[in-house]
Amino acid sequence: KSNAMWGGRFADGPDAIMEAINASIDYDKRLASQDIAGSRAHAAMLAQQGIIDANDAEVIREGLLTVLSEIEAGNFEFSAALEDIHMNVEARLKEIIGDAAGRLHTARSRNDQVATDFKLWTRDQMDAAISGIDALIRALIAQAEAGADWVMPGFTHLQTAQPVTWGHHMMAYVEMLGRDMSRFKDARARMNENPLGSAALAGTGFPIDRHMTAATLGFDRPTANSLDAVADRDFALEFLSCASITAMHMSRFAEELVIWSSAQFKFVTLSDRFSTGSSIMPQKKNPDAAELIRAKVGRIFGANVALMMVMKGLPLAYSKDMQEDKEQVFDAADNLMLALAAMTGMVSDMTGNIDNLRAAAASGFSTATDLADWLVREAGMPFRDAHHVTGALVAMAEKKGCDLPDLSLADMKSVHDAITEDVFNVLTVENSVASRTSYGGTAPSQVRAQIARWKEVLK
Ligand code: ARG
Repeated sequence: KSNAMWGGRFADGPDAIMEAINASIDYDKRLASQDIAGSRAHAAMLAQQGIIDANDAEVIREGLLTVLSEIEAGNFEFSAALEDIHMNVEARLKEIIGDAAGRLHTARSRNDQVATDFKLWTRDQMDAAISGIDALIRALIAQAEAGADWVMPGFTHLQTAQPVTWGHHMMAYVEMLGRDMSRFKDARARMNENPLGSAALAGTGFPIDRHMTAATLGFDRPTANSLDAVADRDFALEFLSCASITAMHMSRFAEELVIWSSAQFKFVTLSDRFSTGSSIMPQKKNPDAAELIRAKVGRIFGANVALMMVMKGLPLAYSKDMQEDKEQVFDAADNLMLALAAMTGMVSDMTGNIDNLRAAAASGFSTATDLADWLVREAGMPFRDAHHVTGALVAMAEKKGCDLPDLSLADMKSVHDAITEDVFNVLTVENSVASRTSYGGTAPSQVRAQIARWKEVLK
């Protein structure tokens, strides 16, 4: 039994179990187009530098396009005996163009090759995440514009706190997602250095031009240290970290949508298109998309932790442990993009139930803070005293089974004499939100200003 790849050194082929644990082709075939782009750039550079013959380079570059079209057409036979995408592509290239294929691997190693391929793939996913987030932000802004002045309860501890506006709540997520987008952009800028030409770990004695391949592959510059270049997976970890935070943000909104769409809340109606039914309970309409989005952060952050643990303690430079990077990033990227698309669809389709939102905002003594603020402003009371007086009024209303605006002026005066008819103006939820005009506050005027700022950014 001879060895398909290392016949010079090896007399025997690998055990079946060795092949099973070692081969990555089942998943790294997803890097095919990046692998071929990297090889085509490398071949052109080798020819320009006079390291290989220009004709050989042309034949190699053409042959690689043939390999790519076979893979894209789905009639490429991937072989586990050839371990990974790099060896599969090169072996097929040799079948197509013959011995010239053997010149392609001059002045490079699979170590810089895989770092290059994986960076190119991850860079595309960063771009996809940025545009997915952009679409979700636009959907949230559309909701915020529609309901800039719809009043709803704002919560702390999931207990009614103060009235806020629907637009304000939507725009809170726009801020989070805006930070997510800028994190992806930062990570993309930081990772955009070309590892190709680092060779196995020490660089090469061939007179290669790493600036040329960097430019061809859209990198800003070559990596500065060949040991670091083949040992670095920071870009994958940064992708996973950015993805984890984005997924965490989406999980919070998903949780709110699960609560809001329940019969007990009825704050929103989700569309049929983003809901599911029950096989036994005919009346059910379940928010499955929201629940699945809520769950995605689990596997995405799991991938982040998994790769961090793989990388922890690895000595320089490349170790085969690092082959365990790809499945984590592939799975996280697939699920992040899916969650972003589902969230965008769900947000675009959902309907806020204005009457229920308002009724909920008015319950639970939500304007108690407005009353206390009024006592400070109009009666000159220290806030702590106003807090105490308002607390007594809340206790009174609770005892009577009514809300604050339902108390009579006489009731109010019995708690504190300084209260006048005028107080009833601040007890409505509309006046409450309208008064919150501090920068970034919940007043419709502030929400509209925030929307306008975002529209400038997104232009
Ligand atoms: N399949 C390998 C990976 O994904 C490619 C690099 C292999 N390099 C090596 N020295 N065995 O990491």
